[in-house]
Amino acid sequence: MTAINNPAQKLSDLGVSQPEQIAPLFAEVRARFDSESAAAHDEGSWKQFRDAWLGRKSGVLTLITDNWLKPASPELKRVVGQELNQLRARVESEIASRRAAIESGADQAALARARIDLSLPGVVRPIGSHHLIRQVLQQIEDIFVSIGFSVVEGPEIETPYYNFEALNIPEFHPVRDDMDTFYLDLPKGAPNPLLLRTHTSPMQIRTMEKRQPPVRVIVPGKVYRRDNPDATHSFMFHQVEGLAVDTDITFCDFTGTIEYFVKQFFGAGVKARFRPSYFPFTEPSVEFDVTCVFCGGSGTSAGGGTCSKCKGAGWIELFGAGMVDPAVYGFVNYDPKKVSGFAFGMGIDRLAMLKYGIDDIQVFFQNDVRFLRQFP
Ligand code: PHE
Repeated sequence: MTAINNPAQKLSDLGVSQPEQIAPLFAEVRARFDSESAAAHDEGSWKQFRDAWLGRKSGVLTLITDNWLKPASPELKRVVGQELNQLRARVESEIASRRAAIESGADQAALARARIDLSLPGVVRPIGSHHLIRQVLQQIEDIFVSIGFSVVEGPEIETPYYNFEALNIPEFHPVRDDMDTFYLDLPKGAPNPLLLRTHTSPMQIRTMEKRQPPVRVIVPGKVYRRDNPDATHSFMFHQVEGLAVDTDITFCDFTGTIEYFVKQFFGAGVKARFRPSYFPFTEPSVEFDVTCVFCGGSGTSAGGGTCSKCKGAGWIELFGAGMVDPAVYGFVNYDPKKVSGFAFGMGIDRLAMLKYGIDDIQVFFQNDVRFLRQFP
Protein backbone atom coordinates (compact mmCIF):
# COMPACT_ATOMS: atom_id res chain seq x y z
CA MET A 1 0.00 0.00 0.00
CA THR A 2 1.22 3.44 -0.77
CA ALA A 3 -0.17 6.71 0.41
CA ILE A 4 1.48 8.77 -2.31
CA ASN A 5 -1.58 9.17 -4.48
CA ASN A 6 -4.10 8.15 -2.03
CA PRO A 7 -5.65 11.00 -0.16
CA ALA A 8 -8.14 10.44 -2.98
CA GLN A 9 -9.12 7.26 -1.19
CA LYS A 10 -10.80 6.97 2.14
CA LEU A 11 -8.97 5.54 5.14
CA SER A 12 -11.15 2.51 5.12
CA ASP A 13 -10.29 1.88 1.49
CA LEU A 14 -6.62 2.07 2.45
CA GLY A 15 -7.16 -0.51 5.10
CA VAL A 16 -6.55 1.90 7.96
CA SER A 17 -8.63 1.32 10.99
CA GLN A 18 -6.24 1.66 13.96
CA PRO A 19 -4.84 4.95 15.32
CA GLU A 20 -1.26 3.57 15.11
CA GLN A 21 -1.62 3.31 11.34
CA ILE A 22 -2.11 7.03 11.00
CA ALA A 23 1.44 8.25 11.73
CA PRO A 24 3.13 6.13 9.02
CA LEU A 25 0.55 7.28 6.57
CA PHE A 26 1.35 10.92 7.22
CA ALA A 27 5.08 10.14 7.17
CA GLU A 28 4.67 9.02 3.57
CA VAL A 29 2.77 12.15 2.70
CA ARG A 30 5.52 14.30 4.29
CA ALA A 31 8.23 12.48 2.34
CA ARG A 32 6.37 13.15 -0.87
CA PHE A 33 5.94 16.77 0.11
CA ASP A 34 9.66 17.16 0.86
CA SER A 35 10.79 15.77 -2.45
CA GLU A 36 8.34 17.93 -4.41
CA SER A 37 9.43 20.95 -2.45
CA ALA A 38 13.07 20.43 -3.41
CA ALA A 39 12.07 20.31 -7.07
CA ALA A 40 10.26 23.68 -6.99
CA HIS A 41 13.14 25.97 -7.90
CA ASP A 42 11.59 28.56 -10.15
CA GLU A 43 8.46 30.65 -10.23
CA GLY A 44 6.52 28.27 -12.53
CA SER A 45 7.28 25.02 -10.75
CA TRP A 46 6.68 26.70 -7.39
CA LYS A 47 3.11 27.66 -8.44
CA GLN A 48 2.31 24.11 -9.51
CA PHE A 49 3.73 22.83 -6.28
CA ARG A 50 1.70 25.30 -4.25
CA ASP A 51 -1.57 24.42 -6.04
CA ALA A 52 -0.90 20.71 -5.75
CA TRP A 53 -0.74 21.02 -1.97
CA LEU A 54 -2.90 24.00 -1.07
CA GLY A 55 -5.37 24.07 -3.97
CA ARG A 56 -8.88 24.55 -2.56
CA LYS A 57 -10.62 21.85 -4.59
CA SER A 58 -8.08 19.16 -5.14
CA GLY A 59 -4.98 20.16 -3.22
CA VAL A 60 -3.54 17.36 -1.09
CA LEU A 61 -4.58 19.07 2.15
CA THR A 62 -8.16 19.43 0.95
CA LEU A 63 -8.26 15.79 -0.12
CA ILE A 64 -6.94 14.66 3.24
CA THR A 65 -9.54 16.78 5.00
CA ASP A 66 -12.36 15.47 2.85
CA ASN A 67 -11.33 11.84 2.50
CA TRP A 68 -9.45 11.07 5.69
CA LEU A 69 -10.54 13.47 8.36
CA LYS A 70 -14.21 14.03 7.79
CA PRO A 71 -15.34 10.44 7.38
CA ALA A 72 -13.04 9.11 10.13
CA SER A 73 -14.42 7.42 13.18
CA PRO A 74 -14.18 9.58 16.30
CA GLU A 75 -11.33 7.38 17.47
CA LEU A 76 -9.23 8.03 14.39
CA LYS A 77 -10.39 11.59 13.89
CA ARG A 78 -8.38 12.94 16.80
CA VAL A 79 -5.14 11.48 15.55
CA VAL A 80 -5.78 12.40 11.92
CA GLY A 81 -6.68 15.94 13.05
CA GLN A 82 -3.41 16.31 14.93
CA GLU A 83 -1.33 14.94 12.08
CA LEU A 84 -3.17 17.08 9.59
CA ASN A 85 -2.57 20.23 11.60
CA GLN A 86 1.13 19.50 11.79
CA LEU A 87 1.25 18.75 8.10
CA ARG A 88 -0.59 21.96 7.24
CA ALA A 89 1.80 24.06 9.30
CA ARG A 90 4.75 22.40 7.61
CA VAL A 91 3.29 22.78 4.12
CA GLU A 92 2.36 26.42 4.56
CA SER A 93 5.66 27.53 6.02
CA GLU A 94 7.72 25.52 3.55
CA ILE A 95 5.81 26.86 0.56
CA ALA A 96 6.28 30.44 1.79
CA SER A 97 9.96 29.98 2.35
CA ARG A 98 10.43 28.34 -1.07
CA ARG A 99 8.85 31.39 -2.57
CA ALA A 100 11.18 33.75 -0.71
CA ALA A 101 14.17 31.70 -1.78
CA ILE A 102 13.10 31.75 -5.42
CA GLU A 103 12.51 35.49 -5.33
CA SER A 104 15.84 36.32 -3.79
CA GLY A 105 17.49 33.91 -6.21
CA ALA A 106 15.89 35.83 -9.06
CA ASP A 107 17.14 39.06 -7.56
CA GLN A 108 20.57 37.62 -7.37
CA ALA A 109 20.49 36.48 -10.96
CA ALA A 110 19.42 39.97 -12.03
CA LEU A 111 22.22 41.44 -9.94
CA ALA A 112 24.69 39.03 -11.45
CA ARG A 113 23.61 40.13 -14.90
CA ALA A 114 24.10 43.80 -14.05
CA ARG A 115 27.31 43.35 -12.13
CA ILE A 116 30.53 44.66 -13.67
CA ASP A 117 33.11 41.93 -13.83
CA LEU A 118 36.34 43.63 -12.91
CA SER A 119 38.32 40.60 -13.92
CA LEU A 120 37.43 41.05 -17.60
CA PRO A 121 40.05 42.73 -19.76
CA GLY A 122 39.17 46.42 -20.04
CA VAL A 123 39.11 48.79 -22.97
CA VAL A 124 42.70 49.97 -23.10
CA ARG A 125 43.09 53.66 -23.63
CA PRO A 126 46.69 54.25 -24.64
CA ILE A 127 48.45 56.57 -22.26
CA GLY A 128 50.65 59.14 -23.90
CA SER A 129 54.16 59.94 -22.81
CA HIS A 130 56.48 62.88 -23.05
CA HIS A 131 58.21 63.35 -26.37
CA LEU A 132 61.92 62.60 -26.20
CA ILE A 133 62.71 66.28 -26.74
CA ARG A 134 60.61 67.14 -23.71
CA GLN A 135 62.28 64.40 -21.68
CA VAL A 136 65.76 65.60 -22.58
CA LEU A 137 64.78 69.18 -21.85
CA GLN A 138 63.58 68.03 -18.44
CA GLN A 139 66.94 66.37 -17.79
CA ILE A 140 68.79 69.53 -18.78
CA GLU A 141 66.55 71.70 -16.61
CA ASP A 142 66.97 69.40 -13.62
CA ILE A 143 70.75 69.62 -13.84
CA PHE A 144 70.87 73.41 -14.09
CA VAL A 145 68.12 73.99 -11.54
CA SER A 146 70.12 71.85 -9.09
CA ILE A 147 73.01 74.31 -9.32
CA GLY A 148 70.98 77.45 -8.89
CA PHE A 149 69.68 78.36 -12.34
CA SER A 150 66.04 79.23 -12.85
CA VAL A 151 63.99 78.58 -15.97
CA VAL A 152 62.49 81.41 -18.03
CA GLU A 153 60.81 81.43 -21.41
CA GLY A 154 60.40 84.04 -24.09
CA PRO A 155 58.64 84.81 -27.37
CA GLU A 156 59.28 82.85 -30.55
CA ILE A 157 58.30 85.90 -32.57
CA GLU A 158 61.00 88.49 -32.05
CA THR A 159 62.13 91.86 -33.27
CA PRO A 160 65.42 92.15 -35.16
CA TYR A 161 66.61 94.25 -32.25
CA TYR A 162 66.49 91.42 -29.72
CA ASN A 163 67.42 88.67 -32.15
CA PHE A 164 70.38 90.58 -33.64
CA GLU A 165 71.25 94.19 -32.76
CA ALA A 166 71.27 93.98 -28.99
CA LEU A 167 73.38 90.85 -29.34
CA ASN A 168 76.00 92.89 -31.06
CA ILE A 169 74.98 91.75 -34.55
CA PRO A 170 74.43 94.93 -36.58
CA GLU A 171 72.46 94.87 -39.79
CA PHE A 172 75.23 94.00 -42.24
CA HIS A 173 77.17 91.68 -39.99
CA PRO A 174 78.12 88.50 -41.90
CA VAL A 175 76.80 86.09 -39.24
CA ARG A 176 73.31 87.15 -40.23
CA ASP A 177 73.80 84.92 -43.26
CA ASP A 178 74.01 81.85 -41.01
CA MET A 179 70.91 82.92 -39.21
CA ASP A 180 68.73 83.86 -42.12
CA THR A 181 65.20 83.36 -40.96
CA PHE A 182 61.50 83.77 -41.57
CA TYR A 183 60.04 87.24 -41.43
CA LEU A 184 56.39 87.77 -40.69
CA ASP A 185 54.16 89.11 -43.42
CA LEU A 186 52.90 92.24 -41.67
CA PRO A 187 50.34 94.74 -42.93
CA LYS A 188 51.85 97.65 -44.87
CA GLY A 189 53.00 100.44 -42.62
CA ALA A 190 53.61 98.19 -39.60
CA PRO A 191 56.35 99.92 -37.60
CA ASN A 192 58.80 97.07 -37.07
CA PRO A 193 59.61 93.92 -38.95
CA LEU A 194 59.03 90.77 -36.91
CA LEU A 195 60.82 87.48 -37.34
CA LEU A 196 60.93 83.98 -35.93
CA ARG A 197 63.87 83.94 -33.53
CA THR A 198 66.92 82.10 -34.84
CA HIS A 199 68.21 81.31 -31.37
CA THR A 200 67.19 81.67 -27.74
CA SER A 201 69.86 84.33 -27.17
CA PRO A 202 67.35 87.23 -27.41
CA MET A 203 66.25 86.12 -23.95
CA GLN A 204 69.70 87.08 -22.63
CA ILE A 205 68.80 90.66 -23.46
CA ARG A 206 65.19 90.47 -22.25
CA THR A 207 66.31 88.90 -18.98
CA MET A 208 69.06 91.45 -18.30
CA GLU A 209 66.69 94.31 -19.14
CA LYS A 210 64.37 93.12 -16.40
CA ARG A 211 66.76 91.86 -13.72
CA GLN A 212 69.85 93.15 -11.99
CA PRO A 213 72.79 90.82 -11.40
CA PRO A 214 73.18 88.19 -10.12
CA VAL A 215 71.41 86.51 -13.03
CA ARG A 216 71.38 82.76 -13.51
CA VAL A 217 68.79 81.52 -15.98
CA ILE A 218 68.26 78.90 -18.61
CA VAL A 219 65.83 79.46 -21.46
CA PRO A 220 64.39 76.52 -23.33
CA GLY A 221 62.39 77.02 -26.51
CA LYS A 222 61.84 76.63 -30.23
CA VAL A 223 64.03 78.42 -32.75
CA TYR A 224 63.76 78.74 -36.52
CA ARG A 225 66.16 78.92 -39.43
CA ARG A 226 65.85 78.83 -43.18
CA ASP A 227 67.64 75.50 -43.37
CA ASN A 228 66.78 72.78 -45.83
CA PRO A 229 65.75 69.62 -44.00
CA ASP A 230 68.29 66.81 -43.80
CA ALA A 231 69.51 64.40 -41.13
CA THR A 232 70.93 67.24 -39.01
CA HIS A 233 68.90 70.29 -40.09
CA SER A 234 65.33 71.33 -39.60
CA PHE A 235 63.59 74.69 -40.09
CA MET A 236 62.57 74.43 -36.43
CA PHE A 237 64.55 72.96 -33.58
CA HIS A 238 65.02 73.43 -29.85
CA GLN A 239 67.62 75.23 -27.81
CA VAL A 240 68.39 75.86 -24.19
CA GLU A 241 70.08 79.17 -23.61
CA GLY A 242 72.08 79.68 -20.45
CA LEU A 243 73.17 82.96 -18.90
CA ALA A 244 75.05 83.64 -15.69
CA VAL A 245 76.09 87.21 -14.84
CA ASP A 246 77.47 88.43 -11.54
CA THR A 247 80.25 90.59 -10.17
CA ASP A 248 82.81 87.82 -9.93
CA ILE A 249 82.17 85.19 -12.58
CA THR A 250 85.35 83.86 -14.16
CA PHE A 251 86.24 81.72 -17.13
CA CYS A 252 86.83 78.90 -14.62
CA ASP A 253 83.25 79.15 -13.33
CA PHE A 254 82.18 78.96 -16.94
CA THR A 255 84.12 75.85 -17.96
CA GLY A 256 83.52 74.19 -14.59
CA THR A 257 79.76 74.66 -14.95
CA ILE A 258 79.73 73.27 -18.49
CA GLU A 259 81.90 70.33 -17.53
CA TYR A 260 79.62 69.56 -14.60
CA PHE A 261 76.62 69.64 -16.90
CA VAL A 262 78.23 67.40 -19.52
CA LYS A 263 79.15 64.77 -16.92
CA GLN A 264 75.72 64.86 -15.35
CA PHE A 265 74.03 64.58 -18.71
CA PHE A 266 76.18 62.02 -20.51
CA GLY A 267 77.77 60.22 -17.58
CA ALA A 268 80.94 60.58 -15.56
CA GLY A 269 83.05 58.74 -18.12
CA VAL A 270 82.64 61.47 -20.72
CA LYS A 271 85.22 64.22 -21.09
CA ALA A 272 84.59 67.74 -22.31
CA ARG A 273 86.90 70.17 -24.07
CA PHE A 274 86.53 73.58 -25.64
CA ARG A 275 87.96 75.16 -28.73
CA PRO A 276 88.10 78.80 -29.75
CA SER A 277 85.15 79.92 -31.81
CA TYR A 278 83.31 83.09 -32.67
CA PHE A 279 80.00 84.65 -31.71
CA PRO A 280 79.41 88.41 -31.83
CA PHE A 281 77.89 88.40 -28.34
CA THR A 282 80.59 86.44 -26.50
CA GLU A 283 84.26 87.14 -26.05
CA PRO A 284 86.09 84.88 -25.90
CA SER A 285 83.78 82.43 -27.67
CA VAL A 286 84.20 78.70 -27.54
CA GLU A 287 82.75 75.56 -28.94
CA PHE A 288 82.34 72.69 -26.48
CA ASP A 289 83.07 69.14 -27.56
CA VAL A 290 82.54 65.82 -25.76
CA THR A 291 84.38 62.59 -26.23
CA CYS A 292 82.45 60.68 -28.86
CA VAL A 293 79.64 58.84 -27.11
CA PHE A 294 79.54 56.21 -29.83
CA CYS A 295 83.17 55.05 -29.86
CA GLY A 296 84.07 56.14 -26.33
CA GLY A 297 86.52 58.68 -27.72
CA SER A 298 88.73 56.11 -29.42
CA GLY A 299 87.78 57.14 -32.95
CA THR A 300 87.43 53.45 -33.80
CA SER A 301 84.09 51.71 -34.23
CA ALA A 302 83.27 48.41 -32.54
CA GLY A 303 83.95 46.61 -35.82
CA GLY A 304 87.47 48.05 -35.96
CA GLY A 305 86.93 50.70 -38.65
CA THR A 306 86.81 54.45 -38.27
CA CYS A 307 83.91 55.65 -36.09
CA SER A 308 81.38 57.08 -38.50
CA LYS A 309 79.90 59.47 -35.93
CA CYS A 310 83.03 61.40 -35.04
CA LYS A 311 84.84 60.49 -38.28
CA GLY A 312 87.71 59.10 -36.24
CA ALA A 313 88.28 62.31 -34.28
CA GLY A 314 87.11 60.87 -30.97
CA TRP A 315 85.34 64.17 -30.23
CA ILE A 316 81.89 65.45 -31.12
CA GLU A 317 80.93 69.09 -31.29
CA LEU A 318 78.28 69.93 -28.70
CA PHE A 319 77.38 73.60 -28.57
CA GLY A 320 78.57 77.19 -28.64
CA ALA A 321 79.26 79.34 -25.61
CA GLY A 322 81.49 82.04 -24.25
CA MET A 323 82.00 84.88 -21.81
CA VAL A 324 79.38 87.58 -22.38
CA ASP A 325 80.86 90.26 -24.64
CA PRO A 326 81.11 93.54 -22.69
CA ALA A 327 79.46 95.28 -25.65
CA VAL A 328 76.24 93.40 -24.84
CA TYR A 329 76.13 94.89 -21.32
CA GLY A 330 75.93 98.29 -23.00
CA PHE A 331 72.54 97.35 -24.46
CA VAL A 332 71.05 96.50 -21.06
CA ASN A 333 72.64 99.14 -18.87
CA TYR A 334 74.88 96.79 -16.97
CA ASP A 335 78.30 98.21 -16.08
CA PRO A 336 80.84 96.09 -18.01
CA LYS A 337 83.55 97.11 -15.53
CA LYS A 338 81.61 95.65 -12.63
CA VAL A 339 79.98 92.51 -14.04
CA SER A 340 81.07 89.49 -15.95
CA GLY A 341 79.39 86.32 -17.01
CA PHE A 342 78.99 83.48 -19.43
CA ALA A 343 76.38 82.26 -21.87
CA PHE A 344 75.74 79.10 -23.83
CA GLY A 345 73.25 77.87 -26.34
CA MET A 346 72.75 74.16 -26.76
CA GLY A 347 70.57 72.30 -29.22
CA ILE A 348 68.24 69.99 -27.34
CA ASP A 349 67.61 67.90 -30.44
CA ARG A 350 71.33 67.47 -30.96
CA LEU A 351 71.94 66.47 -27.34
CA ALA A 352 69.06 63.98 -27.56
CA MET A 353 70.47 62.49 -30.77
CA LEU A 354 73.89 62.05 -29.21
CA LYS A 355 72.63 60.63 -25.95
CA TYR A 356 70.15 58.18 -27.50
CA GLY A 357 72.01 57.32 -30.70
CA ILE A 358 69.46 58.84 -33.08
CA ASP A 359 70.93 59.63 -36.49
CA ASP A 360 68.14 61.66 -38.09
CA ILE A 361 66.69 64.81 -36.54
CA GLN A 362 63.58 64.45 -38.72
CA VAL A 363 62.25 61.53 -36.67
CA PHE A 364 61.53 63.95 -33.84
CA PHE A 365 58.94 65.72 -35.94
CA GLN A 366 57.38 62.88 -37.92
CA ASN A 367 55.29 61.62 -35.00
CA ASP A 368 55.77 58.01 -35.95
CA VAL A 369 54.57 56.10 -32.91
CA ARG A 370 57.05 53.31 -33.60
CA PHE A 371 59.74 55.84 -32.80
CA LEU A 372 57.92 57.61 -29.98
CA ARG A 373 57.10 54.33 -28.19
CA GLN A 374 60.79 53.60 -27.78
CA PHE A 375 60.95 56.44 -25.27
CA PRO A 376 58.01 55.84 -22.94
N1 PHE B 1 72.99 81.54 -30.04
C1 PHE B 1 74.10 80.77 -30.54
C2 PHE B 1 73.61 79.89 -31.70
O1 PHE B 1 72.44 79.66 -31.80
C3 PHE B 1 74.70 79.88 -29.48
C4 PHE B 1 75.33 80.68 -28.37
C5 PHE B 1 74.58 81.03 -27.29
C6 PHE B 1 76.67 80.99 -28.41
C7 PHE B 1 75.15 81.73 -26.22
C8 PHE B 1 77.24 81.69 -27.37
C9 PHE B 1 76.49 82.05 -26.30
O2 PHE B 1 74.39 79.43 -32.49
